[in-house]
Amino acid sequence: MGSLTENVSVARLSADSICLNRGNASVDGSPLVPPIAQSTTFQRTGVGSDPQHQYSRVSNPSVTTLEQTLGALEDAPPAVCFGTGLAAETALFLSILRAGDHVVCGRGVYGGTTRLLQQLLSDLDISTTFVDSTNLEEIRSSIRPNTELLFIETPANPTLALTDIQACARIASDHGVILAVDNTFLTPILQRPLDHGADISVYSTTKFIDGHSVALGGSLVSKHTQLLERVRFIRKCTGAIQSPFNGWLTTNGVKTLPLRIRAQSASAEQIAQRLSEISGISRVFHPSLAEGNAAAIANRQHLDGHGAVVSFEIEGGYEAACTFVESLRLCTLVEHVGSVETLITHPASMTHADVPPAQRESAGITDGLLRLSVGLEPTHELLNDIEHALALASQSPCPQTEEAVHA
Ligand SMILES: Cc1ncc(COP(=O)(O)O)c(C=O)c1O
Repeated sequence: MGSLTENVSVARLSADSICLNRGNASVDGSPLVPPIAQSTTFQRTGVGSDPQHQYSRVSNPSVTTLEQTLGALEDAPPAVCFGTGLAAETALFLSILRAGDHVVCGRGVYGGTTRLLQQLLSDLDISTTFVDSTNLEEIRSSIRPNTELLFIETPANPTLALTDIQACARIASDHGVILAVDNTFLTPILQRPLDHGADISVYSTTKFIDGHSVALGGSLVSKHTQLLERVRFIRKCTGAIQSPFNGWLTTNGVKTLPLRIRAQSASAEQIAQRLSEISGISRVFHPSLAEGNAAAIANRQHLDGHGAVVSFEIEGGYEAACTFVESLRLCTLVEHVGSVETLITHPASMTHADVPPAQRESAGITDGLLRLSVGLEPTHELLNDIEHALALASQSPCPQTEEAVHA
């Protein structure tokens, strides 16, 4: 059976066809959905034989299928898939960084990335400077002779600020630094970081790529084959590969990724627009509402939409936010994005609860800020739900005290 990437290089397929795994040459009688290779080990026909798969900590057919698809989506060799997004990031850091090295990292990255750099890699004598990655001068001036990696996430989490990948790639290459972009929120359907000069795209496939909240996973995509080899070696050494079942589930989830993310993104855009018009909301963040330079970045970097995540701040602070989320019927309160269901997060008490209040406020994460990951419910029903909850929030604050929830 021909591999997806081999076929793609002959005739470039659309992302929709790649996701449906249509690049694979058909073999008479083969199943439409490849079976899960739920095996830890693989037979050899004789001493010295060298089959493609030998032991599932190193590689597994169900994970390889997903890797081919995720690589092909960015015109790259097969991706390297991991048990979680953070396992992928850990392998990336271990493959590039040594004791004494320095990282420049955007402040708007996922909190787990910050924790990994600040609380774990710091013990290995790897230091990090956190910067406002929308400020190119701040990035440039933070690079030191021992800086090896620039790590950014765009749109940022949860404020959705946009970073110019091309400009970061120029700074990185001027200083011999590797640029990695966490593209979890947009996926390769809406943004392809490698096209803008990034060296590596980083994904938590647990989010939109799986899309159904059933499979943990992470992946690294790059055109640098030596880096991919090194990352595979780290994965083998640390045992961080994705399980065959999760690889199989994710391959099935990916089939509808283009349809899902385009529809969710279009719905998010309508919701963001409506939220910016109604009273009771003080600020709305979505790249579709960007102005000036941010709008130029959005138009240049984003493909078929600006993403399904919308953040907004409701008037009345913590108590109003609390009543609001508890009054919603269609949107579910969780620490997660990217599912087919609409999800809501209160960053101040959930994802960013460990961050001291003053630091949270300065990062724009106020007590009234909410993050919505728009799903596939009809947009008008979501808007009805939101407006109904907003009316209740403006009338009756939540009885819980802030101390009770933060404890
Ligand atoms: C943007 C982003 N990157 C990375 C991660 C880490 O992924 P995982 O939870 O799969 O380890 C997350 C998880 O929420 C995320 O939102």
